[in-house]
Amino acid sequence: MSLSRRHFFRNLGLGSAGLLSTSFVIGRGHEAMAFELGAVQAPDDGGFIRISSNENARGPGRKTMDALRNSLSPRVGRGYPPDNTADLVATIADLYGVGHDHVIVGTGSGAILEAGTRAFCSADKPLVTAAPTYGTPDQAARRIGAPVKMIRVDRSMGLDLDAMADAAKGAGMIFFCNPNNPTGTVHNAAAVEKFVRRVKQSSPETRILIDEAYIDYTHDPGVKTAAPLAKELPGVFVTRSFSKAHGMAGLRLGYSIGQPATLQAISRAWSLGSINTLTAAAGVASLRDAKHIDDERAENARVRDFTLEAFKTMGFEAPDCHTNCIFVDLKRPAKQFRDACAALKVSVGRDFPPFENTHSRITLGSMDEMKQAVQVFKRVLTASSTGAVGR
Ligand SMILES: Cc1ncc(COP(=O)(O)O)c(C=O)c1O
Repeated sequence: MSLSRRHFFRNLGLGSAGLLSTSFVIGRGHEAMAFELGAVQAPDDGGFIRISSNENARGPGRKTMDALRNSLSPRVGRGYPPDNTADLVATIADLYGVGHDHVIVGTGSGAILEAGTRAFCSADKPLVTAAPTYGTPDQAARRIGAPVKMIRVDRSMGLDLDAMADAAKGAGMIFFCNPNNPTGTVHNAAAVEKFVRRVKQSSPETRILIDEAYIDYTHDPGVKTAAPLAKELPGVFVTRSFSKAHGMAGLRLGYSIGQPATLQAISRAWSLGSINTLTAAAGVASLRDAKHIDDERAENARVRDFTLEAFKTMGFEAPDCHTNCIFVDLKRPAKQFRDACAALKVSVGRDFPPFENTHSRITLGSMDEMKQAVQVFKRVLTASSTGAVGR
């Protein structure tokens, strides 16, 4: 057990015996144990377990790390354009079977969300988005004075596609986060296609942004990328991020697939940043390492099942999740839970209206982190249910 982990449990006043028992070790597959035993060094967050921002505690795969190291040479002195950036676009285009002009890259997919909203929404062209969902399009629309129609998720916490399609008439753009952050819900390929064709029919000028930042984590085989729809239909575009399953949030990389006219309008509206040579090399390596993404999905699922089960045992439920976060009904304000956890050095997600008085979003960290975090959750939830301060 690592020193920091021992200290963490000592600070918490909990014994650590048995947490990594022989039967536990034997019960895990090779990949899981590689993650578990710290073959990948965990990030140092100053003693905090940071499970608040849906980052990836494990970082990139080994081949991607090798690509980064191999790219460190005097060649980084050449930067106009940086090495590897053309290769990155070509690799993405090949992956989806589209031309290079159907791909744009940005320093994170967030830049593309901002640009897309600025390109297609305005004072008389509202944004249609969900409540709750990822916030960048909503914030970008407000920054440019575009009205925002927020459609509350349905009773199962999934996006209410009928209501969103109804609200789309005359709108500038719909933001469709699939899987959805923070609720973790997902729509399968048939549902996405039905929705997109319905909107294209009823409001042909409305652009449709399908954000697939978390799609690598889904365990529903019926879920597929909407990139073929983006290739076929004008005004439909898909965004993908390297910050989640690829474990590269700090390298800042995302991309979009769509028809050239749609992507050109997005690029003109707002700077998508400038990809550096190391990030581009890492992106190419990570896209070519499908095995690592499979392993990452499996490990995330293992951590998800452990964490959901721990909450269930404590009497709290969350929807089935297809992301690297869970949205748990803790029946108390998120702020109250967040502050109590922060006092014990675990940081969890922000408020997500309209569920800020009941639900908290918890990112799935490494298994080691979640075992520690669950001890804190137990302490906080037990203390607050008995009226004691969760400290
Ligand atoms: C749904 C969703 N889309 C996009 C992003 C932006 O990711 P990035 O800019 O790091 O690619 C995030 C980040 O958390 C997200 O949750």
